[in-house]
Amino acid sequence: MAECRNKKRLTILGSTGSIGTQALEVISKLKDRFEVIALSAGSNIELLKKQIEIYKPKYVCINDEKDAVNIAKTYKITVYSGSQGLIKLAQLPEVDMVLVAVSGKIGLIPTIEAIKNKKDIALANKETLVMAGDIVVKSVKENNVKLLPVDSEHSAIFQCISNREYVKNLIITASGGPFRNCSVQEMENADLKSTLSHPRWKMGKKITVDSATLMNKGLEVIEAHHLFDINYNDIKVVIHPQSYIHSAVEYKDGSIIAQIGIPSMHIPIQYALCFPERLKGIETESFDFIKASKFEFYAPDYEKFPSLKLAIEAGKTGGTATVCLNAANEEAVFAFLSGQISFTDIYKYTKKVYDSYKPIKNPSLEQILSEDDKIRQQTRSLIKEKV
Ligand SMILES: NC(=O)c1ccc[n+]([C@@H]2O[C@H](COP(=O)([O-])OP(=O)(O)OC[C@H]3O[C@@H](n4cnc5c(N)ncnc54)[C@H](OP(=O)(O)O)[C@@H]3O)[C@@H](O)[C@H]2O)c1
Repeated sequence: MAECRNKKRLTILGSTGSIGTQALEVISKLKDRFEVIALSAGSNIELLKKQIEIYKPKYVCINDEKDAVNIAKTYKITVYSGSQGLIKLAQLPEVDMVLVAVSGKIGLIPTIEAIKNKKDIALANKETLVMAGDIVVKSVKENNVKLLPVDSEHSAIFQCISNREYVKNLIITASGGPFRNCSVQEMENADLKSTLSHPRWKMGKKITVDSATLMNKGLEVIEAHHLFDINYNDIKVVIHPQSYIHSAVEYKDGSIIAQIGIPSMHIPIQYALCFPERLKGIETESFDFIKASKFEFYAPDYEKFPSLKLAIEAGKTGGTATVCLNAANEEAVFAFLSGQISFTDIYKYTKKVYDSYKPIKNPSLEQILSEDDKIRQQTRSLIKEKV
C-alpha cells in the first residue's frame, strides 16, 4: 500500500486470527483510508507471510524467534518475536491506532503500552478489560485516547448509548451457543466438534468454547461494566437465538434503542476502525425485516450454564476476582481443547479454583500479573492431578 499522510496508520495484533483476517478484509476495501504499519501472528507463519506480501507492513512480530529470523531473511523488514515484540509493535511512534485481536491474556500489556503511547485502541481482546478494566479505563482517560469496542455486543451498545445520564439498563444479547437446547447430560458428553459448531458465528477456538459454556457472555458483562461504567445490576442478558439484535440500551423514559444487522463481525470491526465515519467498505447483505420475521427472546438458564452466573458474581466482587475467573477458565478451556478434561469439567475446575481464591481489592498491574500466574499454575496442577 502506498503511504499517504491522511491514512490511519494501523498495528494489528493477531492479524492471522478470526478478527485479524476480517479486519484485513475490511482494510482491503478501504485502501485509501488505512496504512498497515505492523502485523503480528502467534504461530501461523505461512499466513503471516502472505499478509506481508499483500499489506507490506514495516514491522511484524511472530511468537517463535526462529520464525522471526526466517521472515527477516525473506522480507528485509523489521521482525520481532515473543510477547516483547507485541509490546514493541504497540509502541511504534508512526502508528495511530492499534487493533488488539490476539486472544487471551497476552493482549493486556500491549494494550496498556499502546494507550500510554497515545494510540487509539480498537479492542477485540476482552480478556484485557476482564483482567484489568479499572486500570485500562483510567489510563484511557489520562492519555485522552479512544477505546473503541470491536465485540459485536459492545459495538452495538456503543452505537446506541447517547446520554449516559439517562440510561436505565444495558441489554446484552446472546445466541445461546450450540448447546442451548441440550440437556445437562448431553453437555457432559459433548465432544470438541459439537462444542466448536457455533450456530451463528465463526470465531477462534477459545471464544467458541466460551460461547458454548456461556462464559463468553459473562466476560462480556464484565467488559460492558468497564466500557460503559454501568452497575452490574443494570446489565441484563437475554438469549436471542437469531443474533439479529446485537444488544440494546434501555433509557429511563422507557425507550429502548437496539442495534440490528446480519450476524457479521465485519460490521463492528469496520465501525471501530473507521469511527466516527460509517463508510461503505465490506459489502454486507442488507438486513431484510420481512425475511427475518422471527425474533425470539428467552431468559438465560443459569442452572444449565453456571459459568455465566459465576462470571457475573466475579464481576460484582471486583478486584482480582475477575483475574481468577479468567485465568482458571482459560486454562480449563485449553485443557478441554487438548482432550484432558470434558466439556462440563471446564466449569467444575473454574469454580473449584474460584471458590478457593481470596481476591485482592484495587490491585496494581504487577499484582494482577502475579495472581494470574499463580491461578494458572494452580488450575493446571488440579487438572493434572485430576482433583
Ligand atoms: N472472533 C470473533 O468473532 C470475536 C468476537 C468478539 C471478540 N473476540 C475476541 O477477540 C480476540 C481474538 O479472537 P479470535 O476469535 O480472532 O481468536 P483467534 O482466531 O484464535 O486468533 C487469535 C490471534 O492471536 C494470535 N495469538 C494467539 N496466541 C498468541 C500468543 N501467545 N502470542 C502472540 N499471538 C498469539 C493468533 O496467532 P496464530 O493464529 O498465528 O497462532 C491469532 O492471530 C479474543 O479475545 C476474542 O475473545 C473475537
